[in-house]
Amino acid sequence: MCGIVGITSFQNVVPRILKGLACLEYRGYDSAGIATIDDGNFEVRRAVGKLKNLKDVTHLNPLQGNIGVGHTRWATHGVPNEINAHPHSNDYVSVVHNGIIENHAELRKSLENKGYVFVSQTDTEVIVYLFTEYLKEGKEPLLALQSVLGDITGAFAFAIILKQNPDVMLVARQGSPLVIGIGQDEMYIGSDALVVSLWTDKVIYLNEGDYAILTPASYQVYNQKHHKISVEVKTVEFKENAVGKGNYNHFMQKEIFEQPKVIGETLLHYADHENFTTKLTTKADWKNAPRLSIVACGTSYYAGMVAKYWFEKYAHIPVDVDIASEFRYRDGVFLDKGITLVISQSGETIDTLMALTLATEQKQQTIAIVNVPESSIARLASDVLMTYAGPEIGVASTKAFTAQLTVLANIVIYAARQRGVMSLTQEKELLTDLFTVPGLIMTVLQNEAEVHKIALSLEKADGVLFIGRGTNFPVALEGALKLKEISYIHAEGYAAGELKHGPIALIDQETPVIVNAPSNDKWFEKTLSNVQEVVARGATVICLVDVIGQQALEANHIPNITLKMPMCSTFVAPIVYAISMQLIAYHTALLRGTDVDQPRNLAKSVTVE
Ligand code: G6P
Repeated sequence: MCGIVGITSFQNVVPRILKGLACLEYRGYDSAGIATIDDGNFEVRRAVGKLKNLKDVTHLNPLQGNIGVGHTRWATHGVPNEINAHPHSNDYVSVVHNGIIENHAELRKSLENKGYVFVSQTDTEVIVYLFTEYLKEGKEPLLALQSVLGDITGAFAFAIILKQNPDVMLVARQGSPLVIGIGQDEMYIGSDALVVSLWTDKVIYLNEGDYAILTPASYQVYNQKHHKISVEVKTVEFKENAVGKGNYNHFMQKEIFEQPKVIGETLLHYADHENFTTKLTTKADWKNAPRLSIVACGTSYYAGMVAKYWFEKYAHIPVDVDIASEFRYRDGVFLDKGITLVISQSGETIDTLMALTLATEQKQQTIAIVNVPESSIARLASDVLMTYAGPEIGVASTKAFTAQLTVLANIVIYAARQRGVMSLTQEKELLTDLFTVPGLIMTVLQNEAEVHKIALSLEKADGVLFIGRGTNFPVALEGALKLKEISYIHAEGYAAGELKHGPIALIDQETPVIVNAPSNDKWFEKTLSNVQEVVARGATVICLVDVIGQQALEANHIPNITLKMPMCSTFVAPIVYAISMQLIAYHTALLRGTDVDQPRNLAKSVTVE
């Protein structure tokens, strides 16, 4: 969602702010803008749509300045137009903001009563006038910031530059991420470490409620109680090239093809490849835990659904899987010694973060699987298990999903051992299976020509059904989500056995059905019967099957389009089959000419409810 970048320096910052905005594009946005102070005046440029439009505007009407803020906006309050685009400015301040000011309506009313005329529909504009009000009262910038923070509620991160103090940048964070970067005679701010790591390897992660004042040569951080605090400066890797597409056409394509390496690296962190045992440990007490609650959103939620099958089967622990936005409001029951496991690629998804906060308040043992170190979720959970997927830029999650599954598989094995229900032999078998995954994925990735043919049969469809049983049911859900997200074709995933309870009414010759059916799991025969049922109703069936599955389809004279999958164990099948789901969505989106990496309306990091 909204992305923030800013620099205060002794040199012109405009080209770097534009570069920083490009680095934030992946978060999802529908307008962008930049503001600087040049010769004592604000220079503001804003444009709707892609960053290219903003760059065109700055080309036609150039600007410069030694201080500046930039913003990519994902519309919440007010349509995506130039007026609602950030920065929001008047003659005193210019503001960029991520998050929602929840009491904006009442603040707006009181500011209007004082004579302020609002020009946009955004909640952000209240920050501009609140500041103005305090500056007009004669407050120093820092005191004005403290007063504004006392007035506003909600989840936010913002940055402000001030006309009267043209080298000062004020920033604050509460609920939305914000990182400070320390440079040589310049300071940077950004919504993530990735953007500031374009220019420095020294970063400060602001804590909840922290705020700071920056000049090119200084920074001072304050906590919620308005005390000056000394903060830890962390070292990150310079990421100047980490966000490139390499030889790929899209980030999503690159990230799909990175998966053998990503899974390999994640396995190296968590598993012993000589003894085929897991090295992963957690602080949580699995032996006495009465229940595990898995909470996540989107693709991460589907990783949790796969894990439910694994945890119950191998670790014999009852599992609930919840969508974070439901979990946090549904008055659930928390059991003594219960474990809550949250899964999030970004580590910033607000609903998942709030679900984790709730579980912490309810004295649950908490574990987080995240891909971004130092993210809000990573900082709150008592136990953090990283996925080693590297930055994921494509909005539709791919490599993070399979990396999450790899971590989850290791937790399952560890938990099963702690609970005394898995033998060493079984652990070795499962680990041996996991170590086959990078190779199996490479085999699947070689099937692109076949996937392209399948995409040709989906390209014109109005709707597509994905079905599977067992751990391949969540994979079907993920397949449908991927297709919706990037090709805009309506798609639904169903447990194959549930088809007869409604969805089968959707079947006609125009509705392709994609079936995930590895032959060596206990559900194969049942899934085959469900395939027969939809074939009997005229559907075009696309079957993802291995060689034995293919023989079974032929023996039963089931007409279908086949995508040949490698033979793999039931345990790792969801990871392997997920790759084909990603490729099918990717190739279909290519044929439909959609914006694969930044699909309409979507955001990579969902920092508002
Ligand atoms: C957004 C993204 C999805 C992602 C979901 C959860 O909706 O577009 O790809 O699965 O958020 O994100 P998280 O970072 O918490 O895994």
